[in-house]
Amino acid sequence: MNASTQTNLDALQQQAQVDIAAAADARAIEALRVDLLGKKGRVTDLLKQLGTMAPDARKAFGEQINRVKETLSGQLEARARAIADADLARRIASETIDVSLPGRGENAGGLHPVTRTIRRIEQIFNAMGFESVEGPEIEDDWHNFQALNIPESHPARAMQDTFYALNGARLLRTHTSPVQVRTMQARKPPIRIICPGRVYRVDFDRTHSPMFHQVEGLYVAENVGLADLKHDLQKFLSLFFERDAEAMFRPSYFPFVEPGADVHMRWGDRWLELLGCGVIHPNVLAAVGIDPERYSGYAFGMGVERLAMLRYGVDDLRLFFNNDLRFLEQFR
Ligand code: DAH
Repeated sequence: MNASTQTNLDALQQQAQVDIAAAADARAIEALRVDLLGKKGRVTDLLKQLGTMAPDARKAFGEQINRVKETLSGQLEARARAIADADLARRIASETIDVSLPGRGENAGGLHPVTRTIRRIEQIFNAMGFESVEGPEIEDDWHNFQALNIPESHPARAMQDTFYALNGARLLRTHTSPVQVRTMQARKPPIRIICPGRVYRVDFDRTHSPMFHQVEGLYVAENVGLADLKHDLQKFLSLFFERDAEAMFRPSYFPFVEPGADVHMRWGDRWLELLGCGVIHPNVLAAVGIDPERYSGYAFGMGVERLAMLRYGVDDLRLFFNNDLRFLEQFR
């Protein structure tokens, strides 16, 4: 070991300590560590020089360098920790969170009351042997009217004014009854189905909206008649309302049934209309290619919103479509 190597080591250590103390951030510390202790660092260079020294000098100087190396390494680490602590303290001071703010919470979703009602109707009828079937909402005149025994000039059309397109070639279906037609065309009796879905009319007030929902029912087989219809609907109503529902069948007119009826249910001291129904008109069976001499059937169509209003005690149908969460949340 000679005097100048010794001086170099002392100078290096002094300068390094000044640099470490001055390092302002983690990047600067890392740069210093590489410069001093890295593979090509200055302390490492000194160690490499050992090989050129006489054995006894080598031992003494080697120990010294290693001590410097350890000291610097410890100082680098201490400085790095001090910088990290200061960073954290600064963040804690500046990034305050207000623990008194209310949480965002998790909003549990729920099914719309109309959806719940449709599911309930389906569940009951499915258990009674009725299969759920759907049909298109954009219909043509034949399926929506003519096949149902409603010719072009028939006054029944006035009550089912709807939205037409393509010069009347297409229309938004005014009821779910065309699904009866489509199903009877596609299948052979016995047929036992219900058809839930959206329907459209030019109507808007407390008890009517331009879009609403119906569930159509159809049963075609041999010897199906009014007694079957009454029995099955009575059973459905009792299951739906979970009580011995008092129903009244009142004669009514629909071109696609004969005889036809409205079903009313006692609600307090009033009778409320729930649905239309009847024994399928022979003209309808003939229109879909089913022999009216051999087969007969019944059909019904109920308003879903009407049933939902009764079950949930809602007095304005428009509430179902306003999307007001204060209303909808009550059905979760
Ligand atoms: N389609 C009728 C309406 O929307 C309801 C209806 C009445 C359906 C009698 C039927 C039925 O299947 O037999 O007003």
